[in-house]
Amino acid sequence: MTTPLEQELANYSAANPKSAELHEKATRFMPGGDTRNSIFWDPFPVYVTDGTGITLTDVDGNKRTDFVNNMTTLILGHRAPEVSAALADQLDHGVSYPAPSPSVVRWAELMCERVPSLDKVRFVNTGTEATLNAIRAARAFTGKQKLVKCEGAYHGNHDAIQISIYPPLDKAGDADSPNAVAAFPGISETAVDDIFITPFNDIETAERVIREHADELAAVIVEPVNGQCGMVAGKPEFLEGLRRITDELGIVLIFDEVIAFRIAYGGAQDYYGVTPDLTCFGKVVGGGMPVGAFGGRDDIMSMWDPSDGGATVQHAGTFNGNPMTAAAGVATLEALTPEKYEYLDALGESLRSKLRALFAELEVPMGVTGIASLFALQFTSTEVVDYRTFATNDKTMAETMFIGLLNEGFLMSNRCAGNVSTVHTEDDVDAFVAAVGNVLKRAGYA
Ligand SMILES: Cc1ncc(COP(=O)(O)O)c(C=O)c1O
Repeated sequence: MTTPLEQELANYSAANPKSAELHEKATRFMPGGDTRNSIFWDPFPVYVTDGTGITLTDVDGNKRTDFVNNMTTLILGHRAPEVSAALADQLDHGVSYPAPSPSVVRWAELMCERVPSLDKVRFVNTGTEATLNAIRAARAFTGKQKLVKCEGAYHGNHDAIQISIYPPLDKAGDADSPNAVAAFPGISETAVDDIFITPFNDIETAERVIREHADELAAVIVEPVNGQCGMVAGKPEFLEGLRRITDELGIVLIFDEVIAFRIAYGGAQDYYGVTPDLTCFGKVVGGGMPVGAFGGRDDIMSMWDPSDGGATVQHAGTFNGNPMTAAAGVATLEALTPEKYEYLDALGESLRSKLRALFAELEVPMGVTGIASLFALQFTSTEVVDYRTFATNDKTMAETMFIGLLNEGFLMSNRCAGNVSTVHTEDDVDAFVAAVGNVLKRAGYA
């Protein structure tokens, strides 16, 4: 008998023959056919030819409503007019220079003005480089080596932090004293030794772990909203507690706001009223161009200052602060007024509550996590607050939903997380919720 997932996959393959064909060719030149595992799914991804507003068009001519926005990046939607105009204008003046441009100054000014903890900021090209540099800063500043991070948190693709992201439960240890587990082979063994893992949203355990290792700790790094486990909002007492303990013990507190910056005008720290020492950014702040940034306390950031005899920490990067990204970043930040955040918050809240009502009506064991413009479907009746509760998700049901939504004309991330942009509307939300219901009914879950 055909399972609901097999049926959705058969429909998907039938509707996307050109993507299948292109994927077959892609696999001849790139392992797995792509260069970014986070956007791969079996049996093949769709190959996109256009993104405009909320709509993605693929090589087969299928149009889908995009609730991924390049992993939360495109907060103004695809081809936002102000961003396209800024990029077109910069294109007329060159794409990169071996000297700074006025736009990078304006960009830094905008970031420092709106993010409470930013005295100074530096730009890089990925969120990965942002966390790499923030961790390096904490180590250089404290003269200490070790880190604390949360289980189930992704902070980018470098050794120091590719640990306990999605650990198999048989290797992960006890919930209240998790093991540090390398995400995959090839991660430096010393990186694993240099990190302690704590559950997200559990301040008692975090306090114990931090106090136990306080003498060796350079930093505690935390994502105020855990993206990997489904846009799970940090509990205020967890983030406030981390600030209190790290302050007391002289440990650098790093907020990874690569995604969470999206939740308020001044980022997650503005939303929660908790001020970290250093913050990492990416995604939204580059307006769709490759980007990362890190910044914070003047005394820490001044280690990068090369004037008067040189910096303590060296920092180069051929494309750091390049004028194309700066132009898109400035245009995006200037467009993101407080009113836009009110719109995003209301639309996100409406989407989450309509989904909850649907799941209650259909009596399916599902939930919704998220905050502000961020949301994720959870295929479990357990309330998801951290990695272990996230791990109770029914993976087959999640995959059936993901492929089913593609068939219905909607794109979520392949973990069924999503976000709204300023160009999504209540009608798009209603259409999405109806599509989720259709998939559930078709699959016999409801
Ligand atoms: C919280 C968080 N930190 C860091 C990164 C790494 O950013 P990038 O993919 O730009 O290297 C990501 C990427 O998804 C992220 O979600």
